[in-house]
Amino acid sequence: MKHFLHLKDIPAKDLRKILVDAKKRKQKRAKLNTLEIDKNAPLKGKILIQMFEKSSLRTRLSFYLAIRQLGGGTITLRSNELHIGEGGESLEDTAKILSTYGDGFMLRTDSDEKVENFKKYLLIPMINGLSPSSHPTQVLSDVFTVEEIKKKPISKLNITWIGDSNNVLNSLIAASVKFSFRLNIGCPKKYKPKKFILDWVKKNNKKVYIFNDSKKAAKNADIIFSDKVISLNDKVDKKKKAKHFAKFKIDKKLLSVAKKDCIFLHCLPRGSEVKKDVFESKNSKVWQQALNRVHVQKSILLYCFNKLR
Ligand code: CP
Ligand code: NVA
Repeated sequence: MKHFLHLKDIPAKDLRKILVDAKKRKQKRAKLNTLEIDKNAPLKGKILIQMFEKSSLRTRLSFYLAIRQLGGGTITLRSNELHIGEGGESLEDTAKILSTYGDGFMLRTDSDEKVENFKKYLLIPMINGLSPSSHPTQVLSDVFTVEEIKKKPISKLNITWIGDSNNVLNSLIAASVKFSFRLNIGCPKKYKPKKFILDWVKKNNKKVYIFNDSKKAAKNADIIFSDKVISLNDKVDKKKKAKHFAKFKIDKKLLSVAKKDCIFLHCLPRGSEVKKDVFESKNSKVWQQALNRVHVQKSILLYCFNKLR
């Protein structure tokens, strides 16, 4: 049994193994319908319990399809409908019950401490489906999408992030260390990644490149990533923050400094950080990116259940 909580804590060779498996699996089921099960139904009889403390469209659907295509099933819980959400049951007892009824647990939470506490008490594998500090399933899937489209290892590409230093960027930074790719970050000075994250990069003898200028960050990019400026857990003055990011919009002008065949990716949902002329352009691969979550999460589930080929 293995957890999948933060990319920084997972060995690079395991992350690569997950991507290799996802590629094979995706190819093999090209002609199958959505709910048809992969050959040998490797997770037959298993149930994944998903718990959401925050909104989700893609993560919920993609985990549903992922476990179903592996022969298992899922149930989705909202913590505010459970005793734990109302303070009526301890996390420890909740974790025991989840472990008794379920085979795997996927949590989307607004507390990293909760991730750690569940890890302490669960007897089944846990997957982080987004927390304030990371969004590992999203970013591993994004590495898959990049390599699928560009048909080369991500280590050979220039990756640019334009936007806030949030959970998705933290995972992207971790991925840049694990997969050794060049990562440029374009953001206002005030919103650069936290020191402890940059210290971790340094400790791993790697570097990320931070620019207070979106054009400098996007120069020669093969891929431009972005995300909402205001995240689900952001308790900030939204108007003020949006103003600070006024010069960090993704538009055609910005794309013109990147490579000609640069692609635009966004985990979604989107806000006003990306202009329609980019979002709807042929450079934008956001729908392919969203659907790949299913394929990569299947291999993440197999990794957690010690069933990766
Ligand atoms: N990208 C992503 O995690 O989407 P949801 O919030 O809809 O799950
Ligand atoms: N950074 C965003 C990601 C949403 C999928 C958030 O946390 O709201």
